[in-house]
Amino acid sequence: MAYQTYEKRLLKEVQEGPIPKHIAIIMDGNRRFARELGIEPTDGHLKGKDKLEEVTDWCLEVGVKILTVFAFSTENLKRKTQEIDKLMALFTENFRRAGDDERAHKHGIRVRALGQRNLLPKEVQDAIAYAEEKTKDYDNYFFNIAVAYGSREEILRAIKNIADDVKNGNLNSDDIDEKVFSSYLYTADLPDPDLVLRTSGEERVSNFLLWQLAYSELYFADIYWPGFRKVEFLRAIRSYQKRQRRFGT
Ligand code: IPE
Ligand code: MG
Repeated sequence: MAYQTYEKRLLKEVQEGPIPKHIAIIMDGNRRFARELGIEPTDGHLKGKDKLEEVTDWCLEVGVKILTVFAFSTENLKRKTQEIDKLMALFTENFRRAGDDERAHKHGIRVRALGQRNLLPKEVQDAIAYAEEKTKDYDNYFFNIAVAYGSREEILRAIKNIADDVKNGNLNSDDIDEKVFSSYLYTADLPDPDLVLRTSGEERVSNFLLWQLAYSELYFADIYWPGFRKVEFLRAIRSYQKRQRRFGT
């Protein structure tokens, strides 16, 4: 099939260039995808979850070390109870599964959740704790799932913690620089994303990693998340490789 030949060629081309170390993804368009297919909107989330499994495989295949995905924002908490319940059940099941995933143990993938987990039901919090505990000693790859996450909240939380540390004498205000500030974010020990990718055709950052994406390449794919194909993923990396990153110099 012509499509598969194209995919293989693209993969080879991409593998010859520099691979982004950290990719962040805003997975958007699950419900619109479902509506187009004539299935229940919430079943779109199920398809979105399957897509994420595939994308983690693609990341391993090309050698992306850190993957951070936006799974659920603090704004998403305002959605209808029925949809939230389905999403929470999906998170519970899949954080548990991530903790037991043979890929995590084979490749050394550390799984973590970023966000206000106290806003999530107890089952989800327990499942997160399970996945984090089971993978805490790994550092070959990092898989971060942003749930109940909002970037402004993350920044405010960092500011409050910094203020507390200054007040308690643990931190000198003259020592607060970008590195110190970064260390107070949920992404503390991780490098900033090289590439931020959003699906569904919306060209917005929507309160995701605002501090961290200061120098990231942004890539918008005009396709709903569950329909995201490997060629699109590879094209995003190729586009990152083609653009020269200058950091303002
Ligand atoms: C992304 O898809 C998944 C979540 C935000 C939970 P959406 O649910 O935003 O689907 P659309 O964008 O309404 O199609
Ligand atoms: Mg959306």
